[in-house]
Amino acid sequence: MTDYKAFFQGKNVLITGGLGFVGSNLAIALAEAGARVTIVDNMLPRQGGNLFNIEPVKDKVRVNLSDVRNQLSMNHLVRDQEIIFHLAGQVNHVDSMRNPIQDLDINCHGTLSLMQALRYHNREALVIYSGTRGEYGSSVALPVAEDHPTNPKGLYAVTNLAAEKMIIVYNQVYGIPSVCLRITNTYGPRHQMMHDEYGVFNWFIKKAIDNEPLPVFGDGMIIRDFLYIDDLVECMLMTARTSAARGEVFNVGAGQPVTFRALAEKIVAIAGSGSCTFTEFTRERSEVEPGDYWADIGKIKRVVGWEPRTSMEDGIRATIEFYRRNREHYWLEDRRPEDIDVVL
Ligand SMILES: NC(=O)c1ccc[n+]([C@@H]2O[C@H](COP(=O)([O-])OP(=O)(O)OC[C@H]3O[C@@H](n4cnc5c(N)ncnc54)[C@H](O)[C@@H]3O)[C@@H](O)[C@H]2O)c1
Repeated sequence: MTDYKAFFQGKNVLITGGLGFVGSNLAIALAEAGARVTIVDNMLPRQGGNLFNIEPVKDKVRVNLSDVRNQLSMNHLVRDQEIIFHLAGQVNHVDSMRNPIQDLDINCHGTLSLMQALRYHNREALVIYSGTRGEYGSSVALPVAEDHPTNPKGLYAVTNLAAEKMIIVYNQVYGIPSVCLRITNTYGPRHQMMHDEYGVFNWFIKKAIDNEPLPVFGDGMIIRDFLYIDDLVECMLMTARTSAARGEVFNVGAGQPVTFRALAEKIVAIAGSGSCTFTEFTRERSEVEPGDYWADIGKIKRVVGWEPRTSMEDGIRATIEFYRRNREHYWLEDRRPEDIDVVL
């Protein structure tokens, strides 16, 4: 990561959702590279926000516990920022169907209040948006390239696609520079371990660490593309400093097809604990399951010069090691929405 230091040294960077999985790993890399990092995060219940995530840089980053939908907060926070990584979102696919108005409000209203703040207070800042491979829905051709049709299966993917389009409109109409990423399933340290409603790779790792069965849906032959978090962070940093990437949409993935069955077997073998078990899809899961996916990452390789560097074996080993060391900060009680006394 040394060669990024010069570019990010002294840069003002805002990370929305910066206490979560992707945001905190990004905040650590940026703070270590000498950037002046501000995080805005509302600690949305049952998501990945966790103050322990930023422990290694807690004295180097500014944390604003606020909601991206709060226009007054955003108007203030965007001033003087040079790069904004927009990661705050409702990320739970199952919850987007259970509580669709909240999903719409956070992912779309939240994105609009960020973009309105930029429109009136800072049109120079570069926005990097973390969209999802779910925007494609069921694949009609594999691997999936950026010109593949977008037919999202669940509401989370619909609101991500809408947010992406909003950011592109602000780029075209108001000249606010941006890059939109469509990111595959990512795993690694600092992901929430409270429940299995999103982040299945990390959930399998938790089960293996606890020496429990890893529940693989169906026959386990559905294909996914799994990316290690350090590779995603590197990708986001490289994208931010590439001027040819402005205004573009990119797939971000490992570009390697892996079945859930092979994944579970690999985790069990590396952890030396746990076992694989096969179980029926729940109704909630099958409703949003798009089937096989792996990414064509040719465009981002060509334009940004990025490609993933971590083997799945190394990524799994590093993730297991992190959670074995920091288990008490992640093995937290899952408080169901009905138990949480908060109106969002
Ligand atoms: N992890 C993946 O595999 C993956 C894949 C594709 C896209 N993404 C995208 O990356 C982004 C980050 O995901 P993650 O995996 O880090 O999830 P996460 O749950 O760990 O982090 C999301 C963070 O956003 C915060 N947040 C939610 N609503 C907010 C609001 N209204 N205001 C301020 N903060 C708010 C949460 O408190 C949490 O800290 C999301 O936009 C997600 O859609 C993630």
